[in-house]
Amino acid sequence: MSGFETITWHNGHVRMLEQRDLPWKVRYVDYDSAEAVAGAITDMVIRGAPAIGCAAAFGVAVEAFRIRNQQGVPNDWARAMAPGMDILARSRPTAVNLFWALAEMKPLLDTMPKESLPERLLEKARQIHADDVASCKAMGRLGAAILPDTGDRPINIMTHCNAGALATAGYGTALGVIRGAHESGRTVHVIANETRPYLQGARLTAWELLQDNINTTLITDNMAGYLMSKGEVDAIVVGADRVAANGDVANKIGTYTHAVLAKRHNIPFLVAAPVSTVDPNMVSGDGIEIEKRQISEEVTHILGKRIAAKGVNVNYPAFDITPAALITALVTEKQVILNPNTAKIKALFTG
Ligand code: MRU
Repeated sequence: MSGFETITWHNGHVRMLEQRDLPWKVRYVDYDSAEAVAGAITDMVIRGAPAIGCAAAFGVAVEAFRIRNQQGVPNDWARAMAPGMDILARSRPTAVNLFWALAEMKPLLDTMPKESLPERLLEKARQIHADDVASCKAMGRLGAAILPDTGDRPINIMTHCNAGALATAGYGTALGVIRGAHESGRTVHVIANETRPYLQGARLTAWELLQDNINTTLITDNMAGYLMSKGEVDAIVVGADRVAANGDVANKIGTYTHAVLAKRHNIPFLVAAPVSTVDPNMVSGDGIEIEKRQISEEVTHILGKRIAAKGVNVNYPAFDITPAALITALVTEKQVILNPNTAKIKALFTG
């Protein structure tokens, strides 16, 4: 297990690993209100769909403690909490885990004893956090079992963005599958795409895997097709920010490109995501809101240094949609769905 905590509850605060400092420095920051937690999500202190969900859940709990400490027990908790719930819901648009976690927390506002509501919300947030780690480990086992057999040679697994312990409560979704393979005794070699423009692959995935001594090679995104054409990639495993009811997947910008390339070269393309990332109300990927980040410097600059002519226009969608037809398997904690489609996703909720 990784030697860091992405998000925890610490002495009445929400404690997060400051991911903007990685890989240079390991630093933790504490947050005391829903507004502050929402700011941390928007500003990418914490990112990755399940981690954002956990942050929202702890954000609701810390807001309730803040209100009770400052104003006493309100008559109407739902009303007192509404601004905090609202600001959390507006922190980032694409990862459905954020909205899922808020929907899990909300009923407690009306049903739990008024005096001890903050403690009840904290219990629930802790449960969401623990369940996420358990789900990641289950995905790790199930996903590792369907990776291609490479005989005596190491398996080369490509991944995009960071879908690891840093993007979840711990262990990771895509990196969970990689950890699962590693822990089952396979020799794993990871090819981490750097993931322009925010560099989650270079800054986070490479750092996280090296903490666990997993052999990792960093490439820039535009090298991936060449490596696939040379037979140097056995499987691709990515995470998801939202899976639509028909199996379309929203994930970090560039995922679609790699899925098309994988199809061309007959390479299994696996998406690992907990059921909380599946949005049964979203008919297809067409309806998923794609975050357009307003911080054009993330494209025109690298580490604070301008790399593009001043005045150039910037287009910056932070996610893309991979159609279900390009996905070999959706790995959830409940089951592996081969060739996902509407009927199979529906069975995930009813079966
Ligand atoms: O913008 P980010 O860093 O939040 O994007 C993260 C991703 O796209 C991940 O692949 C996804 O959230 C899955 S995390 C287990």
